[in-house]
Amino acid sequence: VSMGNLEIEVVPVLRDNYAYVVRHRATNTCAIIDPGAANPVMEALDRLHWTPKYIICTHYHHDQIGGVIGLRKRFEIRLIAPEVDGEKIPGVDVKVRDGQSFEIGDAQARVIGVLGHTEGHVAYWFPGAKALFSGDSLMTLGCGRVHEGTSKTMWNSLLKMRELPPETNVYCAHEHGQTNLQFARAMDPDNEALQKRGEYIMERRQLNLPTVPSLLGDEITTNPFLRADVEELQRAVKLDGDAPPSKAFGRLRKRRDNY
Ligand SMILES: [Fe+2]
Repeated sequence: VSMGNLEIEVVPVLRDNYAYVVRHRATNTCAIIDPGAANPVMEALDRLHWTPKYIICTHYHHDQIGGVIGLRKRFEIRLIAPEVDGEKIPGVDVKVRDGQSFEIGDAQARVIGVLGHTEGHVAYWFPGAKALFSGDSLMTLGCGRVHEGTSKTMWNSLLKMRELPPETNVYCAHEHGQTNLQFARAMDPDNEALQKRGEYIMERRQLNLPTVPSLLGDEITTNPFLRADVEELQRAVKLDGDAPPSKAFGRLRKRRDNY
């Protein structure tokens, strides 16, 4: 897909993960994002005739970095990863943290610290391509599990992403669209925007097509985890309308863990 200054290719890997390969068109500079496995990514690169210069990881989990070693056997690649999680990733060349930016060719990437799923998780926002690579933080109608943070950290991370332009496309690391949809419907049954979006998601999944990218504007109106400060969702988790949103978020996340 061509998005602003980038071309972006979705690469299904492992059971339900997505890696991405992107190319800055003007400078022919290519980067791989979250390669959970090497082979499917190499096949995509061969098909596109792209030579990668960078690997960019959102966090240290195996389904993000599993392909790094294999890809480095074949290509000369610089590895970019978040500072904190980077200590658990072998061979990081560039450690990045919240607020920094770097370039892929001439495409600017901004680093947003979105801690909660892991201690050092970051998202990469490419404003020129209206693209956010969110890993296991914000997902299509969902969010990642909170493994290394509190409800408050994760909620604050989600708020940071909610403030980005609504026309931003969200590229997350898993295909959980259908399960997330079922959960969202159960939590937010009267949301008309969600019903409408649900039809689209079901159509995509029936054709075995990805539900990425999703539009941030749609996430804002339909993703229950971005709506923890909305009265309907607070009531759904048995809180009154002015409970701290992070508390409502925590209850939503817990229900989703057991869903
Ligand atoms: Fe993860």
